[in-house]
Amino acid sequence: MGTLKIAVILGSTRPGRNGKQVADWVVDRAGARTGAEYELVDLADWPLPFMDEPMPPSFGQYRHEHTRRWAAKVAEFDGYVFVTPEYNRSIPGVLKNALDFAYAEWNNKAAAVVSYGTVGGVRAAEHLRSVASALQLAHVHQQLAFSLFTDFENLSLFKPGPQHDAAATTMFEEIEAWATAMRTLRD
Ligand SMILES: Cc1cc2nc3c(=O)[nH]c(=O)nc-3n(C[C@H](O)[C@H](O)[C@H](O)COP(=O)(O)O)c2cc1C
Repeated sequence: MGTLKIAVILGSTRPGRNGKQVADWVVDRAGARTGAEYELVDLADWPLPFMDEPMPPSFGQYRHEHTRRWAAKVAEFDGYVFVTPEYNRSIPGVLKNALDFAYAEWNNKAAAVVSYGTVGGVRAAEHLRSVASALQLAHVHQQLAFSLFTDFENLSLFKPGPQHDAAATTMFEEIEAWATAMRTLRD
């Protein structure tokens, strides 16, 4: 078995987003780990139209080149750390759309959630876990939830509290363990 590959999927794309700082922090913290390779997958680099496949992606009959390209990118990984803000108590539409665009490529993989918002983005995180279940993604318990009020200066400069370091380590340990187990299942 080769090295585990885990994507850090940045789920906000708007100009001036806070998400880039959060995703960069996650990738930076993951950089010292030996159990897996972590790669930033910024949805801003993967523009997709609103779902335009004639058949549900669970049928695996992708008509469009943009779908095939995105599905191939998703397929590269054993697991995914989703970095999501909370938009109107859920995840951004761009993240939901990107999740909807593939199916088998997500199945039997591991996932973790990093959220941020006024109350840590936890309502978005719960929605994301529900979507992940539909995609047969095994989502680990440990979650990072950053507060816009205490982990950002002026709601915009990311300065996470020191308590998040230990939680991040636990999250990486959990996703690597489950990604390994799920790889065995896929094989
Ligand atoms: C369309 C929109 C809706 C939002 N709704 C919520 C919300 O329901 N709860 C919350 O805590 N923050 C909400 N916020 C604040 C965001 O969590 C905050 O602006 C965050 O930085 C957004 O992530 P981004 O900067 O990466 O886009 C909302 C922001 C936007 C742009």
